[in-house]
Amino acid sequence: MFAFSFLVPQVFSQPVMGFNTWNQYGCNDYTASTLLQVADELVESREQLSGKSLADLGYKYVVVDDCWMAEERGADERLQPDATKFPDGIEAVIEAIHKKGLKFGIYMCVGYATCMGRPGSIYHYELDVQQFSLWGVDYIKSDFCYVGTSGQEHPFSYYKGLSDAIQQYMPHALHAICNWGIGESWKWAPQLRAHSWRTTYDIRPHWSCSNSDNVDSYGKGIQPCLEEIIDTNSRLTAFSGLHKGWNDPDMLVVGVDSGHLIDPELPVLTLEEERSHFAIWCFMEAPLMLATLDTSILQTIGNEQLLAIHQDPLGMQALRRSTKHAHIWFKFLHSSDDSKKRCALLILNRQSTEKLSIGTAQLFHNNSHCLSGLTEVVWGRESRSAVAERVTLQPHQSRIFIMEASASYHCNCL
Ligand code: GLA
Repeated sequence: MFAFSFLVPQVFSQPVMGFNTWNQYGCNDYTASTLLQVADELVESREQLSGKSLADLGYKYVVVDDCWMAEERGADERLQPDATKFPDGIEAVIEAIHKKGLKFGIYMCVGYATCMGRPGSIYHYELDVQQFSLWGVDYIKSDFCYVGTSGQEHPFSYYKGLSDAIQQYMPHALHAICNWGIGESWKWAPQLRAHSWRTTYDIRPHWSCSNSDNVDSYGKGIQPCLEEIIDTNSRLTAFSGLHKGWNDPDMLVVGVDSGHLIDPELPVLTLEEERSHFAIWCFMEAPLMLATLDTSILQTIGNEQLLAIHQDPLGMQALRRSTKHAHIWFKFLHSSDDSKKRCALLILNRQSTEKLSIGTAQLFHNNSHCLSGLTEVVWGRESRSAVAERVTLQPHQSRIFIMEASASYHCNCL
């Protein structure tokens, strides 16, 4: 008799959706009540979302970022919550969040200290993961600050230790690696069963960069603008997927118009740029972590057609093709009918001041069968109409289409 052993590839969940404190509240501007209020708002039904809640749409993770910890570990070496922010401890908060049907995520750092100088986990991976497990944490974001003076060691050596502890004590938790793409994280993070891995330095709510010396206020690295982040992440399509994990071009900055991320010299995002940002994150299968739940952004972040593209069962990050004035992303979609093919297209006007006009026929080499299966994704209560022969795009605007046609017509969206 032969003994066969099969390596069963792990199937990850679709890219995670939720809320994270960092981009809006930074280190100091939140407490336990902020998290509880976010949880309430996630499950509240909203008129702007046709009576659904953000949680109904999939935004289920409440993640506390840096500065939730006290400045020092406890006498037993364990991490402890900052008593001013969490006067009743952190467990009660997690329990309340779970009672609402939501999940809880926590931040830690694989180095000597977190990016804001709170205790790092470097000699305590097991202890800290055990603690998170006891508290009932569902998701761990692991940062990469203060990893040593030489900086010579490959990030893998730190993350291996941490992910071994996660596999042992919290095998069902999601692990979001946040080392900004150093050491090409997309090549080794899947081996560590990470849910996602950051591919760039920290996002800011600016579409274009005014100059190249945009060093962040912590002196840690270059803070890219959206254009740069999109460029980097779009080149990494081959590395993400259902059996691998997800490229993470950082959290959403939709609705962020004040606070520590803003460069006063650069314009914040326009409505068209916010919509493009959100839509491109959906096409790139990026985790969707909100910074704010402000009602003014609900129509953008609650676009159900885009969320369906994001959560599509095939889990394929879109491929990008570029022309001088446009970027075009193509994303294959699942079709429940074998005789049909489905895919989504996103056209972005790259230009900052000029409008762009595109003939829709040219997207499918004038194949009328493909064109007749084309519908446009609309925002909010805009009404749907037949796709016009030419479409016009404002500066940095995206227009998004879904194509469904008989498989025999070879409408590949490519
Ligand atoms: C790094 C991460 C951010 C955030 C901060 C917190 O910069 O990339 O997402 O977690 O640390 O200090």
